[in-house]
Amino acid sequence: MTLDGPTFTLAPAQLLRWYLDAGVDETIGDRPLDRYASAQPAASGLPPPTPAFRMAPAAAAGAASALPPPGPDAARVGAAHLAAESRTLDDLRAAMEAYDGCALKRTCQRMVFADGNPQARVMLIGEAPGADEDRLGLPFVGVSGKLLDRMLASIGLDRSSAYITNVVPWRPPGNRKPEPTEVELCLPFIIRHIELVAPDVLVFLGGAPATALLARHDAISRMRGRWHAYPSNGPAGPIPAMPTYHPAYLLRTPHHKREAWSDFLSIRKKLDSHVE
Ligand code: URA
Repeated sequence: MTLDGPTFTLAPAQLLRWYLDAGVDETIGDRPLDRYASAQPAASGLPPPTPAFRMAPAAAAGAASALPPPGPDAARVGAAHLAAESRTLDDLRAAMEAYDGCALKRTCQRMVFADGNPQARVMLIGEAPGADEDRLGLPFVGVSGKLLDRMLASIGLDRSSAYITNVVPWRPPGNRKPEPTEVELCLPFIIRHIELVAPDVLVFLGGAPATALLARHDAISRMRGRWHAYPSNGPAGPIPAMPTYHPAYLLRTPHHKREAWSDFLSIRKKLDSHVE
């Protein structure tokens, strides 16, 4: 959460305590930002920040109140409808930008859609953006992303020959795990995302994407290392999917890198045996 500074005077330590008590967990800048006035893309080339609240055009033109977010049923139906209507990745990105049903959108800085080559034969899916991804609008750009890049390089891939996204495109505050209800709201988007990319091979980074997309509740240690059939509705039918350890988990438990290495060798083998 971020707040503009209070108008009363406090000693620095008291001010810090006041911010912590109010739930502020991140410093983004020392000046308030009028997000309604900053509709133009930033000159830096970063994607535009997520508006704190999306307003109907008439309201945005002058009224002070924001539209209330939709209720849970409307949010679910809305996500499914927007995803189904998206005919291209650009449509899907725009639909997700316009979607208001997930509360995470109101606390993150920007949506993280994807990185890499949408024509690639391999699509990797993580859980949700962290602080670095939220700042830059790209998946896996922090420390775990650096490890992922090295893992890809070990089998001759990089971001021009792989496509990377997450189940949840908005950063949960404080890097907490997304709630099951938040994952459920985002599922129609990632399912459509996979249909539109139609990769030859899917890689699920960690238990969260494997559980969400294979509808299995086994531990990642039991799911990894074998090929599962992801039941895509795309023209090519089911897609071979390899769950493996999340790079952030590998950074904490490096002795599992050997198993991840073996999973990546299987991915290389599958790509080599499955020549178009
Ligand atoms: N972890 C994820 O699951 N996704 C990211 O984009 C970054 C870290």
